[in-house]
Amino acid sequence: MHNAAFAALGLNWRYLAFEVHPDNLRTAIAGAGAMQFAGLNLTVPHKLLALEMMDALDESAKKWGAVNTVKFETGTDGRTRSVGFNTDADAIVAALREDLQVPLTGAKVLLVGAGGAGRTAALRLAAESVAELFLVNRTRSKAEKIADEIRKQFPSTKTVLSVGYPQAAVDLVMNATSLGLKSGDPSPLDESKFPLRRAKVVYDMVYNPPETALLGAAKAAGCRVANGLGMLLHQGARAFEIWTGKPAPLAVMRRALEQAVYGNARETGH
Ligand code: ATR
Repeated sequence: MHNAAFAALGLNWRYLAFEVHPDNLRTAIAGAGAMQFAGLNLTVPHKLLALEMMDALDESAKKWGAVNTVKFETGTDGRTRSVGFNTDADAIVAALREDLQVPLTGAKVLLVGAGGAGRTAALRLAAESVAELFLVNRTRSKAEKIADEIRKQFPSTKTVLSVGYPQAAVDLVMNATSLGLKSGDPSPLDESKFPLRRAKVVYDMVYNPPETALLGAAKAAGCRVANGLGMLLHQGARAFEIWTGKPAPLAVMRRALEQAVYGNARETGH
């Protein structure tokens, strides 16, 4: 999506993927800066590690406690400085609005998953003042840790936090686990504890396959559904704007993304 966007704007830039061992992250970031890269995206497991490695942190990285986007700035002395941003958190809200028109403020939300993605989603949803946030995770202690982090970071949040499945209906169920990525993966939701007919809308951060077991079951239960492609798009679009200072050509990026992920003929599951 980035290369398509560069081409659409006539920029002679390239977006490339590099696999970096966590032990080499600091060196890799320094090297990219020294070579005057415009910036970087970071993914698992680098997003938390990089927090300590930036010369400066944008408010977004400070607030959401993770860096997925780096911008290199060159000073008048010719030296580059790394600035860390987070574009994941706002992408969650943008995707939910765009794909499902979910009004989050005042909503009841069941969030499954308490890894990196689950943590960011939980913090962002609390910041959006959802009314109730239920956190469910295979390893319960990680969900409890996130609830504590929210209470500490947003002491005035109106969001009522609980760990475990809700007894009543919710407006939104969100999967932030990695379950669903592999073919044959079961749904991360325990339907004996929370039947899907109690949910209005179901969002799965997984976008490939386009319809996970969770989304299939949610559709069958009459829920409105969307997969995580919109999140991927919006975190990328914001990163593009940070690097280039230009508005992201969203339609071009979406088309390129759908083509890369699903191929020409596939539907996106939206
Ligand atoms: P990410 O950055 O994508 O969130 P992660 O931090 O490794 O990746 O988190 C993976 C999430 O998927 C966690 O919530 C994990 O549950 P645990 O905290 O119990 O490990 C969840 N997950 C992964 N495999 C799972 C499985 N087989 N069943 C249930 N949850 C699973």
